[in-house]
Amino acid sequence: MDHDIDRLPKVELHIHIEGSLEPELMFAMAERNGVALPYASVEDVRRAYEFSDLQSFLDIYYAGARVLLTEQDFYDMTWAYLERCRNDNVRHTEIFFDPQTHTDRGVAFETVIDGISRALSDGERLLGISSRLILCFLRHLSAEAAMATLEQALPFGDRIAAVGLDSSETGHPPAKFRAVFDRARAVGFASVAHAGEEGPPDYIRQALDLLKVRRIDHGVQCVRDPDLVRRLADEQIPLTVCPLSNVKLCVFDRIEDHNLKQLLGAGVCVTVNSDDPAYFGGYIGRNFRATARALDLDRTEIEQLARNAVTASFLDAAGKQRLHAEIDRWRAGPVPEA
Ligand code: ADE
Ligand code: ZN
Repeated sequence: MDHDIDRLPKVELHIHIEGSLEPELMFAMAERNGVALPYASVEDVRRAYEFSDLQSFLDIYYAGARVLLTEQDFYDMTWAYLERCRNDNVRHTEIFFDPQTHTDRGVAFETVIDGISRALSDGERLLGISSRLILCFLRHLSAEAAMATLEQALPFGDRIAAVGLDSSETGHPPAKFRAVFDRARAVGFASVAHAGEEGPPDYIRQALDLLKVRRIDHGVQCVRDPDLVRRLADEQIPLTVCPLSNVKLCVFDRIEDHNLKQLLGAGVCVTVNSDDPAYFGGYIGRNFRATARALDLDRTEIEQLARNAVTASFLDAAGKQRLHAEIDRWRAGPVPEA
């Protein structure tokens, strides 16, 4: 039973825009930019997308991002994602970007953000999809490099809603970035962080207590610490969970083993997201459908997941109210044809 998931108004809170780069577009950009790819064909690329853990994915993901050079490349990648959003009835999306992946290759910060934000403006104007941008620091690099990236971002601060933390989790605890997040808060950014994707529950606690984040990205390892699960529920700290990603990166063997339903039942503010849809086999709609089927979610649970994402978003009260009203109409069922 798919509970009319296609029509469900959705909010996405965990999508790395570089992870939406489909192999076809990657090949087109490689060709127009004269960048060599270590693949013979699009099929060859897809065959390479077999991962054993987070790091095995990141190595391939950073290699793929090398084709992105011009403002138009960042625009085209973002626009392609927004077209997927339209197909999945995504009404609002909060997008991560990794500037260091590009600035470290000599691409200007301005090129990256101009291309992404021009597509987001067109998405709002032409598709009616609202959005926010979240700048992620790469945690495998130094805190000093993250601080320099934050300083670089300040002139573009009006286009950035929040900062985040991503890349290789193990061995790079949130504590490493405390001063960076202090500064980000001082200049007015909200914050989020990947924590408890592969890493221990203590990384989730550090993200909350030291980085003072508003949401936890992934967070599924919290179940190893029942007190932490209670705290997440009591404080209604949102988790941006990415079910297909977790299976592709072997966090869970099978989607049937995923703990999303358990967390929802414990009262945690869980949301469903795609993470890196071009690499993990599906955009948000597919994540919803696969999870609903595997975990036998009922219509009330699907509705709760959608409402959680509205509540957990960086939209203002009026924007949230508008989306809750759209979900009310979804619940009431399709309007009969006149
Ligand atoms: N960057 C892109 N996808 C990521 C993930 N799933 N975890 C950490 N960093 C990422
Ligand atoms: Zn992620």
